[in-house]
Amino acid sequence: MQIIRTKAALRALTRKWRAAAQSIGVVPTMGALHPGHLSLVEAAKARTDRVIVTLFVNPRQFNNAEDLAKYPRTEEDDARKLAPLAVDVLYVPDPEEIYPDGFATTISVGGVSDGLCGGDRPGHFDGVATVVTKLLLQTDADFAFFGEKDYQQLKVVRRLVTDLDIPVEIVGCATYREVDGLAMSSRNLRLDDAARRRASDIHSALRTAADAIVAGTPASQALGAARTRLEQAGFGPVDYLEYRRDSDLAPLETPSAPGRLLVAAWLEGVRLIDNVPV
Ligand code: PAF
Repeated sequence: MQIIRTKAALRALTRKWRAAAQSIGVVPTMGALHPGHLSLVEAAKARTDRVIVTLFVNPRQFNNAEDLAKYPRTEEDDARKLAPLAVDVLYVPDPEEIYPDGFATTISVGGVSDGLCGGDRPGHFDGVATVVTKLLLQTDADFAFFGEKDYQQLKVVRRLVTDLDIPVEIVGCATYREVDGLAMSSRNLRLDDAARRRASDIHSALRTAADAIVAGTPASQALGAARTRLEQAGFGPVDYLEYRRDSDLAPLETPSAPGRLLVAAWLEGVRLIDNVPV
């Protein structure tokens, strides 16, 4: 696995791959890799000839300087985890490769960025959309792999490649879960043992609410019960707990179209997110 830090060096390589008619897959990450990321890499390996994993802690998607400063930077560890998967390139762009002096462009995706994590974290999805656009163009990927855990992010990315005619297929991959159902996240490591045991309630509360909605319970009632259950399990605050239409994330009240329940809630100072289909 080569570690590449400049877009010129990356482009020299992707040109050769293209000349040999090889397809390129990219897995964008901010590092601190866990088995969920590695499952995205496996999906990329199964689908494309060449795989690039990107590692860039994107300052523009953090709306809190302390969160950015605390974000784990574990490049050596990440490279070690990727080695057995025979990834072709770990692209770790120097910051000026992404945001050179004078950088003045922001990609802002309307609609699907509104509310949910977009409401709680102003500017977050502009930062995500801008960096993802750059990473897709710099890697020249045919396929890009994103986890469904960040469901709103996946929707934002799908919207932007459609709207900007970026010739890449976005592949959404199922959330990788611990045996008790908790979605894998680097944040889970910040939970102590007792909080970790309670954390899986976030997933079971969603599942119970989804089943109730399908069985005819009004969404407001099912979500109210899920919120009470989370609060009783020690979660708080619950930033959002919502039922949205899958296609465009517009609010839903009844299962009249494929939908999604999405939640963000804090447990002992750690913000957890999850979502399930309805
Ligand atoms: O999901 C992430 O890790 C980030 O939001 C992404 C897609 C790598 C953009 O910085």
